[in-house]
Amino acid sequence: MIIETIICTKNNQGNVNFAPFGIKKNKNYILISPYIPSTTLNNLRATGNASINYTDDATFFVNCLLGKKNFQKKKCSKINSYFLKDALAHDEVVVESVKENKVRPIFKCKIINQEEHKRFEGFNRARNSLIEACILASRVKILKKKQILKELEGLKNSVEKTAGIKERKSWNLISKFILNETR
Ligand SMILES: Cc1cc2nc3c(=O)[nH]c(=O)nc-3n(C[C@H](O)[C@H](O)[C@H](O)COP(=O)(O)O)c2cc1C
Repeated sequence: MIIETIICTKNNQGNVNFAPFGIKKNKNYILISPYIPSTTLNNLRATGNASINYTDDATFFVNCLLGKKNFQKKKCSKINSYFLKDALAHDEVVVESVKENKVRPIFKCKIINQEEHKRFEGFNRARNSLIEACILASRVKILKKKQILKELEGLKNSVEKTAGIKERKSWNLISKFILNETR
């Protein structure tokens, strides 16, 4: 199973980066597979650690795609890095090994600390649609316009029926971004 998360990494100059990544989890290990090039990938190589942030607030994913990534953060307990202040929970991981690949290396990371911060208040379909829209947004240069428009239309229904104000605003922003970027 793939879990959609926000990964926080740092480079050797101390610059912090947040980015959405689908991770695989197996007991005490997390697999992160970034396509080349990626800041997260460079930072994982440089510092060998990361925080994996679990959130039900899809606007974090949208804001990453829109380049607004200056999220509030807090210091991690066991690694020299940060986690997303508003995360429901986070894991602190260290890179144990890298399976090299020219397209998409796989980082095998060991979980060395886990913390819970807030209660999960339940699923919301609009939030799920926002995550799907973010996936579309990250593929606008690869997918055909016709397919993108069809998929966006399919997601719109759950947003119209179930979104809160925050989600509706994010939907408008990410849809506009996608429509501007499609070929
Ligand atoms: C929900 C979601 C999951 C993603 N999972 C991955 C992934 O597993 N691997 C990857 O290379 N990119 C993934 N992406 C795309 C990256 O977030 C995107 O390429 C981003 O620009 C990488 O940021 P960085 O350069 O700051 O590391 C995902 C995007 C979204 C919205």
